Amino acid sequence: MATILIHPDTASATRATAERLLATIRANPAAVLGMATGGTMEPVYTALIARAAETGQSLAGLHTFNLDEYIGLAGDHPQSYRTTMDRLLFDHVDIPHDQTHLPRGDATDPATEAFDYEAQIEAAGGIDLQLLGIGANGHVGFNEPSSSLASRTRIKRLARSTIEANARFFGAGEQVPTHAITMGIGTIMKARRLLMLATGNGKAEAVAAALEGPVTASCPASILQFHPEATVILDQEAAAELKWRDFYEDIHPGGQEVYFADRS
Ligand code: GLP
Repeated sequence: MATILIHPDTASATRATAERLLATIRANPAAVLGMATGGTMEPVYTALIARAAETGQSLAGLHTFNLDEYIGLAGDHPQSYRTTMDRLLFDHVDIPHDQTHLPRGDATDPATEAFDYEAQIEAAGGIDLQLLGIGANGHVGFNEPSSSLASRTRIKRLARSTIEANARFFGAGEQVPTHAITMGIGTIMKARRLLMLATGNGKAEAVAAALEGPVTASCPASILQFHPEATVILDQEAAAELKWRDFYEDIHPGGQEVYFADRS
């Protein structure tokens, strides 16, 4: 069972996620971090930038690997995940750009790019902490329902509902990509620790299915139940459908994890 931390509000859940990233960096300034995109992560990166500046914590020793990238978008496309990550985080901290990795969406051979990306993660020593959001249909990265639970980095077709959900980031009339290169579920499971953040009632159903439903490819995030070091941070709305919510709140009142400082 993952450690489930239910926070009083979204701001607190977001702050706690940023603090946990910072604690990981403090404990190991040369950590390999797995990064995630999505609206949920935007305030996390804003908080991380602010806290790193306040505490004087350098990010220069980190290596980062993002979960995924749209196929067909060059790194300098305004909606590419590369541009998004630069804008939200990398341009505001001291990590050298060449230590930040995303699959190249405009690679001439995306299948080889995906294979090489997996090898780059291995060569870096594997991911110490993988940050994760969750799609409303239970996807992680771009591993849509029916993805193999053992999958590695590869090309995935996006579900219609995911394309529609992500259309908000694109201009009117602009074509939303239909394919992505994404770390596989097996890739994500190899990370030494997982940290999922979900906020808002749009995620409540997926969160309940992932944490309390059967482990199934129909809900890729349910694989977290098999990870020995998974933490899930939720706000009240994202926790709304959890059957054992009282229990989680008894163990971690207000989303506080007593032993966190010892484990970072
Ligand atoms: C995309 C990303 C996922 C992310 C999901 C949810 O599909 N590939 O990594 O978890 O969006 O995004 P949001 O946080 O905007 O709801």
